[in-house]
Parts: sequence; structure tokens; C-alpha cells
Amino acid sequence: LNNGLAQTPQMGWNSWNFFACNINETVIKETADALISTGLAELGYVYINIDDCWSSPTRNSKGQLVPEPKTFPSGINALAEYVHGKGLKLGIYSDAGVFTCQVRPGSLYHESADAKLFASWDVDYLKYDNCYNLGIPPKERYPPMREALNASGRTIFYSLCEWGVDDPALWAGKVGNSWRTTDDINDTWASMTTIADLNDKWAAYAGPGGWNDPDMLEVGNGGMTYKEYRAHFSIWALMKAPLLIGCDVRNMTAETFEILSNEEVIAVNQDPLGVQGRKVDVSGTDGCYQVWAGPLSGDRLTVALWNRCSKAETITATWEVLGLESGISVSVRDLWQHEEVAVDAVSSFGARVDAHDCRMYIFTPRTASLRYVA
Ligand code: DGJ
Repeated sequence: LNNGLAQTPQMGWNSWNFFACNINETVIKETADALISTGLAELGYVYINIDDCWSSPTRNSKGQLVPEPKTFPSGINALAEYVHGKGLKLGIYSDAGVFTCQVRPGSLYHESADAKLFASWDVDYLKYDNCYNLGIPPKERYPPMREALNASGRTIFYSLCEWGVDDPALWAGKVGNSWRTTDDINDTWASMTTIADLNDKWAAYAGPGGWNDPDMLEVGNGGMTYKEYRAHFSIWALMKAPLLIGCDVRNMTAETFEILSNEEVIAVNQDPLGVQGRKVDVSGTDGCYQVWAGPLSGDRLTVALWNRCSKAETITATWEVLGLESGISVSVRDLWQHEEVAVDAVSSFGARVDAHDCRMYIFTPRTASLRYVA
């Protein structure tokens, strides 16, 4: 969507994966505080996004949405002011149907009034869900909210949450700043790997202004191992997925923080070229040894060696699968070890990868002249 936003994938936090409906204004404020005190905000995690359950079950007598008085007594505008005061941005949630998934009022046929209300609260981001949609195709229900946001007088990030229904990559680029390519993620290896593959299919449609969204991060929620979470974060970054933290950042382990704060991996996600990396090679049983790669600015490449098998193995990326001319020499930097691991790799690069782990690199061509050696 050409509204000036999402030149790189959005980064921030969302309440759903960890808190579900157990949210209140204290949690939101403490999360804002924690993003600042941990340094995550400075690394780019600036959106604080409130998901479902912030609103009262009924509209007021003027037909307006109302924050749940027990949990959000100060209102959404007060929260927006609080997070803006810290240099952060506030996101809100609604639904392109008659109810949200947790049966709060939806915005279908209330688009204009609701968008104006969100703008009047100084909200910066809208996640727009797909429940209770009366069977009307998403293609028809999502554009009216884009029009309403455009007319609201405030520039608001528009995140479509249509669960991949009707292949949104094919139509949502003009509608929103990101669109979900799949059903909900859950905090398991099986869910995360399945979603990565589903999202990969639409790589060609992502770019500055509009991104494929394979759903929010589960890093830190406890259902996967450290190595599995590292793989999850690496692949989400490489796929130019939104990096929306889904854990309780007020109580992170050192390992969770180490993953989420990896500046080199974040830089791949936020690279200005904005090209979604993809799966470029598979080998082993069921193709579980995998190479994922994509171009970066400055003629560089990012490469991930992802072991989805149950035993350690050396995985090799050849120049052929990476689309590099044979003879090109590259230096290889490991983004998890934070060091150069090869200065003059030619024709292929391989490394041993533990079961369910992922190694991630940047390949930099060594000299311009070498790049033309055929
Ligand atoms: C379905 C969405 O896909 C989730 O991300 C979350 O927003 C829930 N609805 C909330 O009810």
C-alpha cells in the first residue's frame, strides 16, 4: 500500500501470542517500558500492538467502540500518549466482520466511523482480523477500511489479518502494508516450519510498502528449544516477515533476549533492498536439509543453512543454487557467531548444523573485478 509506511517490515510487539485476552493498560505500559529498558526499542521494535479483547462487548449510544472500562479505564488515547512519550507507536485491532474473533464489535459497515475514532485516539497501526465475516470475500471487505484509514486524517499502518484466504499476495499489495499468508501460528516446531513453507510460496509479491505476514513470533514462549527459536527468528528475518515479538518482554530469559536482539539478523530483515529470501535447495530425507537465501543491498546475499532433520549434518550451499557465477569469491560472515568464517569461498560454502538449528550468513563478493571472472 502506497501510504509511505512499511518501507521495511514492521517491527514491534503484539499482545496475542502470550497474553491472549488477559490484557490491560498496565501490561501495555509495562511492555512499553520494557522495550525501552532492554534496548529492544532502539533496535527497531517500535510498534506496541494491542490485539483482540481491548474493547467492550457493545458499542456506546453513539455507535462508537469503547475500551473495556475494567481493563482500559484510561482509554486508548491515554495509552497512545504514553507510548508516544517514549518514542514508540501504538497499534489497535479490529475485524472485517460483525464481531472480532473474541466476540467484540467488528468494524464491517462501520469502517469510516471506526477509522476516524482510531485516528482521534492517535493510533498508528491497525490489525484487521477476519472473523464473523458473513461469508463476504476478503477482497471486498478489506478495501473499505483502507479508504476509511486514508480519509481519517492520520497515517495508519494497515495490517491485513485474512489468514491467507483467497491468496492475498495476489491482491493485497494495493490494500494493505502486510497481509497474513496463513492460519495462526502456534508455539511448536511443526507449526513454525509449516508456516515458513506456506509463506515462501508468495515471496515474489513482497516488497517495500507491502509484506507477506507468516504471523507473529513465538520466540520466548516456551514451546520450542533455543535452537528452534533461533531458526524461527532467522527464517522470519530472511523472509522479510514482520518482526512482531509475541512473548512477555517484561520477563525474558537471556536466551530469548539474545535471539530477539541480534542486530545482524535484524539488519537482514530491515535491508533497504526489501527482497524476500526463499528456499533455494533441499536435500536429505523429506528435504529436511535446506538452504534459504536472498539478495541484500550492496550486491550481498543472505544465506541460511536450516537443518529440519533430527540429526546434525553438514549442509552446503553451492554457487549454482545461490545464483552466483562460478569463480566468484565471497567472504562469509556468521550472523550468530558474529565473526567472519571464510574470507575466500569459491563455488560452495558448507557448515555443520545441529538438528533443528539454523546458521545464518551474509556473503559479500570480495572484489568487483573477481565478480566478472566467468
Ligand atoms: C485470529 C488472528 O489470526 C490472531 O492473530 C488473533 O488476532 C486472534 N484472531 C484474536 O482473536
